[in-house]
Amino acid sequence: MNILILGGGGREHALAWAIRQNPKCDRLIVAPGNAGIAEVAECAALDIQSRAEVLEFAQENAIDFVVIGPEAPLAAGVSDALRNAGFLVFGPSQAAAQLEASKTFTKEICDACGAPTAAWARFTDGPSARDYVTAQGAPIVVKADGLAAGKGVTVAETVEQAHAAIDLIFDGEFGEMSVVIEEFMDGEEASFFILSDGVNCLPVGTAQDHKRVGDGDTGPNTGGMGAYSPAPVLTQTLQDQVMDRIVRPTIAEMARQDMPFQGVLYAGLMIKDGQARLVEYNVRFGDPECQALMMRLGGQILDLLLACAENRLDSVSANWADDHALTVVMAAEGYPGSYVKGTAIKGLSDLPQTSFQMTFHAGTAEKDGQIVATGGRVLGCTGRGATLAEAHERAYALVDAIDWPQGFCRRDIGWRAL
Ligand code: AMP
Ligand code: GLY
Repeated sequence: MNILILGGGGREHALAWAIRQNPKCDRLIVAPGNAGIAEVAECAALDIQSRAEVLEFAQENAIDFVVIGPEAPLAAGVSDALRNAGFLVFGPSQAAAQLEASKTFTKEICDACGAPTAAWARFTDGPSARDYVTAQGAPIVVKADGLAAGKGVTVAETVEQAHAAIDLIFDGEFGEMSVVIEEFMDGEEASFFILSDGVNCLPVGTAQDHKRVGDGDTGPNTGGMGAYSPAPVLTQTLQDQVMDRIVRPTIAEMARQDMPFQGVLYAGLMIKDGQARLVEYNVRFGDPECQALMMRLGGQILDLLLACAENRLDSVSANWADDHALTVVMAAEGYPGSYVKGTAIKGLSDLPQTSFQMTFHAGTAEKDGQIVATGGRVLGCTGRGATLAEAHERAYALVDAIDWPQGFCRRDIGWRAL
């Protein structure tokens, strides 16, 4: 079959690498792709947030299946446009994608189905939000309600910090906004990935990531500096609890409200004293969590994604090896602030590319026969092994073989579990 993947980051490189291994995949196109993806698929320049452009491309290229990687085309309704035209698509509708795009929407779904999450209140003006924070006290969490590229959340340790975050939101930094104020939840965070066809659910892995830029979880937040799977804190008992109390009720509530969720639900969880509460949902695979998950799942992921798109998730199961995978992100100096672009990365062609060691590209391009860095997060060195320690060693062996003076990474990915 002819498959089109939308996206051009490390997540999409991992998806392409895994899907390519499945014999059902004849032609694989990734739009826009990157220099690493170009080694396993054709890349096509395409505005992936334009419904019309994606639809026309899918028609012209006789695409049989479209896999949507990032949240922006989902929030833009690209999946609806494709489905309405008869294409088979992996990825939720624009309405269902509100589970990521709108904090208020998610909180209302949680309330409607009784899923445990932080207590919350929503405000559309600064003074009422400030008064509420003053009454509640700190620590407290302030969230801009809308897609803010992960930058709209402030975990405030003091009332003053919370007030400052509220002022910033209503000063227009994020455009027209409302604010959600949440109870601060203490505990250990982990991520749980579940496929759903709108009715049935199939867990496809757990992971933990490292959001801060520096070793020891210090410095500013990033999109993620590394991840590992599985997450030891998400025991089978806890996974069952999350499926029963959070995931299945959410999927049922979405169907009840006529917005069936079809795609991957990424549940961000806070775990304390053997109980899990929902922090947030995303409606896509995590990046770099996806790189670790795809190393563990391999080519079978295509069968699972197809079953999901064809509403027959109850007819498949995931085959798990008792293994571990770990991804170390290499970023350009300066990230997550302003960073250098266009620096040359050497040594990539000598690296092993196996089911135990893969270097996924996130922000690269080929220029005059060289691979150059084009983004903040640039590479995801991923190792798989029988133990997390082995996966860790294999991932860092890749890092150490890469010659890129302007790049950096955290040296402590996986510390909590190792
Ligand atoms: P979100 O974009 O909602 O995932 O928030 C980003 C990060 O902020 C999460 O991964 C948590 O680390 C933190 N966070 C969000 N909401 C809460 C909360 N209610 N209590 C504690 N930490 C939170
Ligand atoms: N790594 C976090 C995310 O993909 O949102």
